[in-house]
This record gives sequence, structure tokens and C-alpha cells, in this order.
Amino acid sequence: MSETLILDAPAKLNLSLRVLRKREDGFHELDTLMVRLPGLCDRLSFTLADADTFSCDDPGVPGDGSNLVLKALAAYRAAAGWFQPLAIHLEKSVPHGAGLGGGSSDAAATLAAVDRLNGDALGTERLMEIAATIGSDIPYFLGPPAARATGRGEKIEAADEPPKLPVLLLKPGFGVATPDAYKRWSTSKELPGIPYAPQLFPWGELVNDLERPVFEKHLFLAEVKLWLLGRPEVAGALMSGSGSTMFAILKNDEAATALIEAARAELDPTLWAWQGLIGG
Ligand code: C5P
Repeated sequence: MSETLILDAPAKLNLSLRVLRKREDGFHELDTLMVRLPGLCDRLSFTLADADTFSCDDPGVPGDGSNLVLKALAAYRAAAGWFQPLAIHLEKSVPHGAGLGGGSSDAAATLAAVDRLNGDALGTERLMEIAATIGSDIPYFLGPPAARATGRGEKIEAADEPPKLPVLLLKPGFGVATPDAYKRWSTSKELPGIPYAPQLFPWGELVNDLERPVFEKHLFLAEVKLWLLGRPEVAGALMSGSGSTMFAILKNDEAATALIEAARAELDPTLWAWQGLIGG
């Protein structure tokens, strides 16, 4: 038994994220536009085995039941009654606690992979229902690359993709705890001198209602946004999801290397940076 299936699990950006209200169940009603970052992916391999194993090249990823890959596998098995043992290996490239959906994408790829190994027994619609029971962001990764997500993020409809746009991602060493960002959304205040208003483009807008609670706690991220918006190469700048990744839409992709160097020199020498494309 050595059949192996390898899948890439891409990151996402939220180009707009509006928080509409807090719901009775504690979650927040959202209206968000998400796009994939096809060039920034984790990679998962699934091999039919005699016993379950899980390994990951990043020691920061837990190997227990709190891991979204293993949660997805358990949820799939419960739904499909398919208990084939698997050796799963995860290669992480997408940082966690970053607002890039790395763990959610890994979970979605796991659901897609195990259903494929099980002869497509459940199909995408059922997988999206299972995905929503594990995390709000996960169904998106089983659907179209550009999507509007509503509800708590699990209701997905295809959206127009923006044109191909060069983007730069910057992330400091710390991550942001998503529950904390939502918890403080209703009581948080705007910091003076920081632009939060939608930035308008021919293809849509950049806006994120979670910047308010997150910037209040992590002033550095507000400084990164201001710094990016002050650069002539930058057309727009925003936090993705609940952070801590800040991204910029660039006027042209040749600007990225110099911008990364300048950001490390002027903001923080340890910034994680990635450049690539969104849209189609
Ligand atoms: O669904 P997920 O597990 O990714 O959500 C993590 C936490 O973020 C939730 O427990 C909740 O505190 C918060 N959240 C929210 N409203 C959403 C999505 C997440 O309040 N729409």
C-alpha cells in the first residue's frame, strides 16, 4: 500500500471584511471578499498506511487533536465511516496566526484529499458542510478562488476576481488571536491619524473592520499600514483577516524587493515578507 496523494493548500487574503453584528451564538455576522494566493501554499501528502501518523516540518504545529488537519480527518471519518489509516505529512510555508487562513486551508485540503482517496464518496457540497463544523474559514477553501463569504464566513458565493495584481505581504514575529480581535470589535476605538476608511479601486475596495480592535492592541500593525500607504510604489494597504499580516497592493511588481528591504530597515529587521500575485 503506497498510494500517495499530494495537495497544495493555498493561503488567502481578505480584500474586504465587514463585521455586521454580534450574533446570539457568539459569532459575528460577516460580509467578506476573499481571494487565494496561489503562489503561497502549504503542501500535504496523504499515503495509505497500516497505522495513522502525522508529521510536520514546523515544530510549532501541534500533533494532537487541536491540529486542524487531524480535526478535519476525524470529522470526515465520522461523516463518511471511512477509517483507512493514513500517513499525513504537512510542509508549512504559510505562517500561522497571520490572517492568511493557513490552518483552514490545510483542513480543507485534508477533506478534499480523503474524499478523493475514498472515491469521492461525499462530494464538495457535503465536504463544505463538514468544513463549517470545524472552522468558519474552511468552506471557502473548497469553493471558487474569489468568493464573497457571509454568515459567520461559511456561506460562500463566487465573486468576480480582481485583475492580476502584484501584492506584498509583511508579517511581524507575533500573531493575533482571532477570538480576541472579534471580542473587542464592538468596544474598540479608532486610533487618531490612522486611515481605516475603504480604499476604492476600479475592481472593488480594501477595508477591514477588524483593524480597529487589532491596531488598538498592536500599534505596530497600524504603523506598518501608515508606512506602506506613504510609499509611492503602494496603491493600497490593509490587514488580512484578524492579522497579523499586513499586505500592500503594488503599482508594479518590480517594486517589491526594494520595498521589503526598506521595510526591514525602517520598521523591523525580522519581518517575514512574501511577494506574489492575486487575481486572474
Ligand atoms: O470559526 P473559527 O474557529 O475560525 O473562529 C475562531 C473564533 O473567532 C470564534 O471562536 C469566535 O470567537 C471568532 N469568530 C467570530 N465570528 C466569526 C468568526 C470567528 O466571532 N464570524
